[in-house]
Amino acid sequence: MHWKTRLLHTMSHAPEGFRSLTVPVQRGSTVVFERQADAHDDWRTDDRGYAYGLFGTPTVLELGARIAELEGALHSFIVPSGMAAIVVAYMACCRPGDHVLLPWSSYGPNVEFTEFMADFGIEFEHYDPTIADGIAEHIRDNTALVWTESPGSITMEIQDVPAIVEAAHARGVPVVLDNTYAAGVLFDAFGAGVDISIQALTKYVGGHSDLLMGSVSVREQAMREKVGRAWRMMGMGVSPDDASLALRGLQTMGLRLAHLEQATLKVARWMREQPEIARVLHPALPDCAGHALWKRDFSGSSSLFSVVFEPGITPAQVAAYADALELFVAGFSWGGVRSLAMTYPTRRDLSKRYGGELLRLNIGLEDPDDLIADLHSAFKTMR
Ligand SMILES: Cc1ncc(COP(=O)(O)O)c(C=O)c1O
Repeated sequence: MHWKTRLLHTMSHAPEGFRSLTVPVQRGSTVVFERQADAHDDWRTDDRGYAYGLFGTPTVLELGARIAELEGALHSFIVPSGMAAIVVAYMACCRPGDHVLLPWSSYGPNVEFTEFMADFGIEFEHYDPTIADGIAEHIRDNTALVWTESPGSITMEIQDVPAIVEAAHARGVPVVLDNTYAAGVLFDAFGAGVDISIQALTKYVGGHSDLLMGSVSVREQAMREKVGRAWRMMGMGVSPDDASLALRGLQTMGLRLAHLEQATLKVARWMREQPEIARVLHPALPDCAGHALWKRDFSGSSSLFSVVFEPGITPAQVAAYADALELFVAGFSWGGVRSLAMTYPTRRDLSKRYGGELLRLNIGLEDPDDLIADLHSAFKTMR
C-alpha cells in the first residue's frame, strides 16, 4: 500500500486498560458502521446507536445524560447556546396560526424572538409574570405554549410555576420553563410539572465565561419526539471540546453555587442599606416581591440580583456609577467567576415600571468584602 493510503488507513484503537476520571473528548462527524445493513440516520442515538456526529459524539451525549439525570428528565438535548435552546422549544411546539404566552419579564432576546416569529404567523401575547393561575384567562383555543422564566431576567419576579402548569394543562397546553437561574437544580422543573425545561449552560454549568451551550430537557416520550425532530431539522450540533468544558464545569458547580449564594446575599443586603438605593430585587430577601414563592419552590438562590436607584437619579448617573466600579465589569453573560454590573438603557420601560433606574449585578468568586468596598467607593465618587 502506498504511504498516502497508509496515512489514512492505519486505524487507531482506544487504549486498553487506560482508565481516567475525565470523560474523553471524542470528535467525529462521520460515524463508521460495521456493515451497510447497520447504517441508520436516526437522532435517537440512545435507542439505535451512533449515527452521525451532528446527533452527538459520546462526549456530548454524556453531557446530555448528566443534565437529564440532574434535572430528573427523560432526555436532554444539547444545543449550541441558551438562545438555541429557546428556539428549539418554540420550533417543537408552534405552528402558523398558533398563539403563545410569554411573560414580559423574559430574557430580552426571547422577547425579540417573538417579534421574529410573528413573520411566520405565530401570535405572541406578553403576560404579567406574577399572574399565577390568572393565566387561565389568557389561554385561547389556539394557544400552543405557555413560556415561563423564574426569576425573570433583570427584574427577578418569581413565577407561580405550579399554578401556571395546572391552569395550562387543564386546557392541554404545554409549559416551558427557562430554568437557567436555578442551574437546573435549585428549582425542580419537572416536579412542578413543566413539559420542557431549558437552560443556558453558558452560565452556571460552564461557569467560567468561556463557552456557549444550552440544553432542552423533556419528561415525556411524546415531547421528546417533537423536540427531537425540531432539534435534528435545525442542525443543532455542538463541539465535543466545548461539551468537555461543560462536563468539567459540572464538577465544581455545587461549590460555586454554594459560595455565590452566600456572597450574593451579603452584597445584596449591603446594597439595601445605601441611601441611593430604593429597592433590591433579590427573591431570597424577605421584603422582595415573590419571596414567599421562592421559599416554597426553590432550594437556594444564585448570583444575580438587581437594584433600583432612587427616583431622582438619572440614567447617566447610574452609568457613571457602574463605570466607576473597578472589580465589576460591564458584560451580559452571567454565571462565571467574575462580577458584572449592567444597566439596560434600551429597556426604558423597566425604569418606568420600577420608578427608578435599574442596575443588574452578577456576583463572581471574588471576596465579597472586596466587592462591597468597590461598590462603596463608587458611591463615594457619585456623592
Ligand atoms: C435567562 C436566560 N436564558 C437564556 C439565555 C441565553 O443564553 P446564551 O447566552 O447561551 O444564548 C440567557 C443569556 O443571558 C439568559 O440570561
